[in-house]
Amino acid sequence: MKRKMSNNSNSTYINDILSEYEKMRSFAEDAAKVRLNEVYEHIPRIKEIDTELGVLGAQLAQAVFKKGIDIDDFISKQKQKSEKLKAERAELLSRHNYPANYTDVIYKCKACEDTGFIGSSQCSCLKQRIIDRNYNQSNLKNILKKENFDTFVFNYYSPYSFEGEPLSPRKNIEEIVTTCINFVQNFDTSYENLFFFGNSGLGKTFLSNCIAKSLLDNGYTVMYQTASGLLDTLKEIRFSNNDDNLNTKLEIIFSCDLLIIDDLGTEYITDFSQMEIFNIINKRLLSQKKMIISTNLHLENLYKTYSERIISRLFGNFTMYKFYGDDIRLKIAENRRKAKK
Ligand SMILES: Nc1ncnc2c1ncn2[C@@H]1O[C@H](COP(=O)(O)OP(=O)(O)OP(=O)(O)O)[C@@H](O)[C@H]1O
Ligand SMILES: [Mg+2]
Ligand SMILES: [Zn+2]
Repeated sequence: MKRKMSNNSNSTYINDILSEYEKMRSFAEDAAKVRLNEVYEHIPRIKEIDTELGVLGAQLAQAVFKKGIDIDDFISKQKQKSEKLKAERAELLSRHNYPANYTDVIYKCKACEDTGFIGSSQCSCLKQRIIDRNYNQSNLKNILKKENFDTFVFNYYSPYSFEGEPLSPRKNIEEIVTTCINFVQNFDTSYENLFFFGNSGLGKTFLSNCIAKSLLDNGYTVMYQTASGLLDTLKEIRFSNNDDNLNTKLEIIFSCDLLIIDDLGTEYITDFSQMEIFNIINKRLLSQKKMIISTNLHLENLYKTYSERIISRLFGNFTMYKFYGDDIRLKIAENRRKAKK
């Protein structure tokens, strides 16, 4: 397929991605063919129906060029015939216990039928592939299979009061999860950024992953980076000559639908890092692009670490959620030890 990309037209990785799409498509089409042949063998009438449907289609195409026939009447008659055949086909499949779509081609992405494009614009699945390729995010998918709203365990959070906090850890996390579900559901309609803070092992990364998974499943693009990973990339970008691939990397930081910056505060803090973090947060705020930032810095340390300009944007534009309770990592380790005994 020859289509011009908005950038990086000479990058080989784009060609790799496009050939992945081609493979995906032929895989889906071949698999459908196998199913179709299986059905033809079990229900020969379906093969006849498909042939008849093919003939009807061809007749319809030819009729356009014929003179002296009532074309509307002809179309409506052909339509009736074809609907009758389709109904018979569906009934036969169902009677033989096949799912209704058994002989359809099942694409990974319904929106673009595994072409990567809708019209001439990139499908979100292609945009996400470009992000994953640029930021080595292929591993994220595996993590998201394990860390998502369906696998979220509330039992790790105690239902009893905790160290003078207003809510029990359970009630607190329930409220946070509700907010996160709303964040996903209202992703198009409201503008909100989330800031997760709290001690280690309380599910901040887990919950960001839940959101990432839901958004990816709904066709949004998501970039996940730790603060230090992000700064390493920025160093690479800023200190090298103009390079197409690096420009794409930079563009993604500003253009992806959701940017998750995890472990803020674990990066090496310099004037450069402060400036870059500020720049990212500020630019994304201005263009109303959403962010989730997590940290295990306490708020007073956050104040000490970051410039006033960063702090004021964090407090002004992010909804802050404190995670508290017992370290889930320790609980999981303890459960494992018990299971071994
Ligand atoms: N609600 C949950 N249900 C199931 N497992 C969870 C849940 N929350 C966290 N975990 C697991 O507990 C461990 C710690 O969680 P996570 O990494 O999200 O903590 P964190 O708050 O990001 O910690 P840190 O501040 O050290 O980065 C992980 O192995 C994670 O899979
Ligand atoms: Mg974490
Ligand atoms: Zn797609």
